[in-house]
Amino acid sequence: MNTLQLHDIDACVFDAYGTLFDFNSAASAARDELGDDWQRLSDLWRLKQLQYTWLRGLAQHHADLWQVTGDALDFALGTLRIQEPVLRERLMNLYLQLSTYPEVPAMLRELKDRGMKLAILSNGSPPMLAAVVRNSGLDDAFDAVLSVEEVGVYKPHPSVYGLAAERLQIAPARICFLSSNGWDAYSAKAFGFKTIWCNRFGQAAERIPATPDGEIADLSALPAIVSR
Ligand code: LAC
Repeated sequence: MNTLQLHDIDACVFDAYGTLFDFNSAASAARDELGDDWQRLSDLWRLKQLQYTWLRGLAQHHADLWQVTGDALDFALGTLRIQEPVLRERLMNLYLQLSTYPEVPAMLRELKDRGMKLAILSNGSPPMLAAVVRNSGLDDAFDAVLSVEEVGVYKPHPSVYGLAAERLQIAPARICFLSSNGWDAYSAKAFGFKTIWCNRFGQAAERIPATPDGEIADLSALPAIVSR
């Protein structure tokens, strides 16, 4: 039984990639062409995508996540010595149609039925986020789909987390933030949100400020944890 309880929560705010949407599903869907390399490509693609967000942030060379995702894919394809423009385009299009993790739709419905405000707060650009939300049939699920493009800098810059509180008009302490990315969950906690790390990938604890309020293996446990 889950003993973790978070009361006085008015909104749940979700990270997108890896938390609601399975970024592995893009390369996995192109397995017919990638063969056994699909997982290695997917891992490299994601790792490099995140690194580029941080590098661009530090260097103050912001570009939106569509550009960064394409650059990261080019790095990953280059590493695997794959030179196929048509496959590149296919993979980029698949990134707009990522699968949701299986528990996501029912979990969102349950929270919404209980009057919880729901939002996405993501590095994704507005067109990328609109596409994955629409393709997963979640158009009506969210009160807000917020992109870092509104502040022009990537997570974990505090102004990104501040955007959610400002746009929802809810105090950070009454927002529960969910991310499968440990660094995102820790940084959101440091900002002032209540935070649960959805540790889908069984990763070790991070060594950065600050520790999330709790950890779950997937999002099915969330409705039993948060209440208004
Ligand atoms: C996002 C990445 C960090 O959706 O997963 O913001």
